[in-house]
Amino acid sequence: MPLILREGDITTIPCDAMVNAANTSLLGGGGVDGCIHRAAGPGLLEECRTLGGCETGSAKVTAGYNLPCQYVIHAVGPVWLGGIRGERRQLESCYRTALALAAERGCRSIAFPLISAGVYGYPRDRAIRVAGDIIGQFLETHEMDVYLVLYTESAYRQACRLLPGAVRRGG
Ligand code: APR
Repeated sequence: MPLILREGDITTIPCDAMVNAANTSLLGGGGVDGCIHRAAGPGLLEECRTLGGCETGSAKVTAGYNLPCQYVIHAVGPVWLGGIRGERRQLESCYRTALALAAERGCRSIAFPLISAGVYGYPRDRAIRVAGDIIGQFLETHEMDVYLVLYTESAYRQACRLLPGAVRRGG
């Protein structure tokens, strides 16, 4: 099953694992991090406080609380610094680590936002390609419904153009 493109708010998408675009503190923020924490409720932050942060390129798992998911996988993407500081490798590592954590837990579905493509400034076209590449490699050897959730129509349409082999599930 190829990657599935969805448009809208990731916190409304039922899945086994929902990926958050977090920062190294894991203590919340704006963007999708803020949306996930608001929708999950205070228990999510309480659990995050026990994790001791997370390094860039990695990810840690919590329960899903009030979200329509069993797990939240908090991935910390790189800040875009012009592409000469290993940002692509770090972003690839976010996707690989989150997918591995979901597979270890027997998840049958996982939803990703476009990690690093907001506040962290990663060019959206490049971020879409990294997501498509790493998820595509994973799906060559794993059975899982993997959603890439684009928050805006323009991002969704760009993803459809850049990832022609993906399934388009829309809003
Ligand atoms: N559902 C799906 N996608 C969303 C949502 C949402 N509710 N809200 C925002 N997005 C999209 C943005 O449009 C962007 O394409 O998620 C992508 C990632 O943007 P950010 O949330 O800004 O994440 P990132 O660029 O990785 O920056 C992380 O921002 O919010 C803080 O605490 C976070 O410090 C961390 C930094």
